[in-house]
Formats: sequence, C-alpha cells, structure tokens
Amino acid sequence: MKQLDARILSNRCISGKYYLLRLSASGIARLSQPGQFIHLRCSESLSPLLRRPFSIHRVSGAKIDIFYQVVGKGTEILSKKKAGQYLDVIGPLGRGFEIDRPGDFVLVAGGMGIAPLLMLAQRLSRCRVNKVILVGAKTKSLILCKEEFKRLGFKIKAATEDGSLGFKGLVTDLLEQTLRIKHSSAALRTGSAQCNTNLYVCGPQEMLKKTARISSKYRLKAQGSLERNMACGVGACLGCVIKTTHGYRKVCQDGPVFNLDEIIW
Ligand code: FES
Repeated sequence: MKQLDARILSNRCISGKYYLLRLSASGIARLSQPGQFIHLRCSESLSPLLRRPFSIHRVSGAKIDIFYQVVGKGTEILSKKKAGQYLDVIGPLGRGFEIDRPGDFVLVAGGMGIAPLLMLAQRLSRCRVNKVILVGAKTKSLILCKEEFKRLGFKIKAATEDGSLGFKGLVTDLLEQTLRIKHSSAALRTGSAQCNTNLYVCGPQEMLKKTARISSKYRLKAQGSLERNMACGVGACLGCVIKTTHGYRKVCQDGPVFNLDEIIW
C-alpha cells in the first residue's frame, strides 16, 4: 500500500454522470490486483473530509483508470478536476478476485458494478476459455464499456429493465437463463449437468444476494465485490463490517471481494 500525489492525466465525461479519470501513479499501478480499490481525497479543503473509495477500473503501465459516477459532493468536486492537477491517493487496498481457478468465466455487472470488472477482464483475457460478461442496467444508454470488453475477447450479453437492449429484465434473470442453457448443453454433451464455471459479480447488494442464491442452486463458485461506504478504508473504524460464516469481516480489508457463499445476507 502506498500514499502518493497522483497526477491527473485526464478526467472526462463518458456519458451523463459517468466519468473516466486517468491517473499517473506507478507505485500503486505496479501493485494493483483486479478487485482492489484506491482511497482518494477529492478536495484539499475540509469538506468533504473523508476519502472516497474507487475500484481500480484498468491499469496500463504506470496509469490507473477510475470509472465513476457523480453521486454526491465528493464525486461532483472530482468531476471538475483537470489534467495536470494532483490527487492524494492511498492504494491499492483490500483483497481482490482470485483468478487462478480452472473452468470458464462468467462476469456479471449491475450498473456501476462494471467498474472493477474491466481490470479483471484484462487478466482473464489471457485464458483460452469461454468468457462472457452479462451487463445489466435500466436502459440501453446505461450499458457502458461494451467495446472495451469486446476487445478483450469477451462475449457481451445485455439486460435492460425497459427492454431497449438485449434481454428484458434484471441481469440476474439473464444469468439464470444463461446457466440453464449451459447446464442443459453440458448434460447433452457429457451426461452430467455440472458446469465448471466461475462467476465474478459486482453490483448492488440485492443483485449479489440473488446471484448467491443462483450460484448455490447450480453449485458454482462465485466471488462478489461488495459496495460499501468506507470512512478509513484500512480496517480501523469498523464502519464497513459484514456478517459472514467466519464471523464479522471488514469489507475494506478482508474484501471487498468475498466468496458469495460466505456472506450472511
Ligand atoms: Fe474503516 Fe472498513 S472503512 S474499517
């Protein structure tokens, strides 16, 4: 973990309230693993006082990309920052995704849950197995980063609540449909309905909870990145504690990635 002043290389609006921030931060980039996050001070003044956690979206060389949505005062201030300015950053923090697992890969993103999955896709792109990402949003214009995942060799399946793109409904319903098809074709091919599929999930709490139910039904390994407010980000304030089968755990330090079957919802 490092604390440094990272130079802003660019900070541009991608669409509506969605921004892509590119930082020069070689000390952090070198150590980062998919699923980890940085803790960033959005302002030099005392308001907002607390740092904000952001998933590491992509790493290339010494550069780190952060994909964020303007949702409050901190991110509003961040969206006004310009190239050449510096930000006080701590990272990489937390425990990321385990990726050395046999089998194929299904990534599932709900809304801004897409943010940490691109760096994961960068790593998984080297594996010669089937790779799919299911992306869910309210409407077509909120299905983001499609081209980036395509370039990394992922098949994209979209779910929109209004039916404007792909499957009409929730991304968890699309996941259930996808797994049903995979399992029936596995049964036809091998006589066994068991698939060797790894699920990697990020999105709102309710989506993760449903995915945990689905992964247990199909007996799949599923890792999910939890979204929480984080005051300290380093395990000191106990403000991000969750209940798991191993007792209470801190999302900032023991996560944000957990095996979904460990979480008590
Ligand atoms: Fe302080 Fe996790 S944010 S313990």
